[in-house]
Amino acid sequence: MTDTAKITLGDKTVDSPVLSGTVGPDVVDIRKFYAQTGAFTYDPGFTSTASCESQLTYIDGDEGVLLHRGYAIGDLAEQSSFMETCYLLLNGELPNGEELQTFENTITRHTMLHEQLATFYRGFRRDAHPMAVMCGVVGALSAFYPDSTEIHDPHQRMIASHRLIAKMPTIAAMAYKYSVGQPFVYPDNSLSYTGNFLRMTFGVPAEPYEVNPVVERALDRIFILHADHEQNASTSTVRLAGSSGANPFACIAAGIACLWGPAHGGANEAALNMLREIGRPERIPEYIARAKDKDDPFRLMGFGHRVYKNYDPRATVMQKTVREVFEALKVNDPVFEVALQLEEMALSDPYFVEKKLFPNVDFYSGVILSAIGFPTTMFTALFALARTVGWVAQWNEMISDPAQKIGRPRQLYTGPTHRPYVAVDKR
Ligand code: SDX
Repeated sequence: MTDTAKITLGDKTVDSPVLSGTVGPDVVDIRKFYAQTGAFTYDPGFTSTASCESQLTYIDGDEGVLLHRGYAIGDLAEQSSFMETCYLLLNGELPNGEELQTFENTITRHTMLHEQLATFYRGFRRDAHPMAVMCGVVGALSAFYPDSTEIHDPHQRMIASHRLIAKMPTIAAMAYKYSVGQPFVYPDNSLSYTGNFLRMTFGVPAEPYEVNPVVERALDRIFILHADHEQNASTSTVRLAGSSGANPFACIAAGIACLWGPAHGGANEAALNMLREIGRPERIPEYIARAKDKDDPFRLMGFGHRVYKNYDPRATVMQKTVREVFEALKVNDPVFEVALQLEEMALSDPYFVEKKLFPNVDFYSGVILSAIGFPTTMFTALFALARTVGWVAQWNEMISDPAQKIGRPRQLYTGPTHRPYVAVDKR
């Protein structure tokens, strides 16, 4: 028997069904609420709204739990690979050895870009932000793969998904090469997904490039940590764009645009810039005071989260990975010490404790990416690279739902009511 929620509005009382998932909060199904009451519900920012049903990722913000198809992010980060995690998100189960090999081979053979796409880069200034390039080039992919517009053909959807997962590293690496005036480096099918990305980014045609296995493993783990995250802003953007029937490349370009914001994926770039600006531990109190000051728009970047009211489990893995990379590369950058002390001071400050503000995935990621050699402008492009699998998995889940409708929210209107037009000479 399904529970119901009684909502009384004026002289009307409606019973809305309460639906339960396998775990997590119940939802009140209000799909008939407007038809029954003539009123809308109101939830700007969707703090209390479930936009869809999904089986991909579950977050328990109070407990700091993140599961992908039921597998804990800590287990996947420590024991899995990004390719295996991609397979899991797309297909629902961990692959056996043969399935994983076949999947990796498929992705490897889609890493090349159509040669004409290289000319798109020449239209950008050399100092264009890589996210501007990613938005443009990914959106342009739809001009090269008309078959991928057959969004109701599951086979075509999976090909488009494989193409996007495979080509994002090539597109991101080319954005970096273009920004530093170096020649593009073509994919090398003998390398792993992440090793290939490292070589396309840091390799040069004039000499062989040796992939550092510690860096390769650390970056692959960072990709796993960024793969998917329920209905975050960019994923919701991808779903909304997809609900209109837009092709998958246009939908992912929309997700990239949304991720760019500093409140979302742009926070990793902003967090490292903040840590560099603080510069040394003695200046931390000044910045904590600013973050607490209601009259100061400054926020601690990489801190806080809409869902996590406990430690972001991804930040835990990230902090551990910093130590591994710093040791392997013999990095001696004070920025890590500033980050550790900032975290310690913030987490002992009542303001952050009461508001349940903890480091999130973006707090330490920039420290690692900087140590590996990426410029801060590339950090969000790497986030987009990794999140593409989550976006396409969520897009596939939505499109394959026969009950799927176009997303079209309503509003609370507070503008002027109807008034007669007045000719300009009478105003
Ligand atoms: C990502 O949704 C996802 O899952 C996103 C993500 C993913 O994987 O897709 O996890 C990736 O985007 C992580 C978040 C990265 N963003 C940042 O690190 C930017 C800094 N953080 C914030 O701006 C903020 O914490 C958000 C945007 C992340 C969450 O904002 P909410 O949930 O809307 O919370 P809020 O802005 O209403 O803040 C609640 C209170 C406010 O104080 P009051 O008005 O109640 O007095 O906490 C304060 C805020 O001022 N606050 C902060 C703060 N974050 C929130 N104060 C200082 N520093 C901060 N970082």
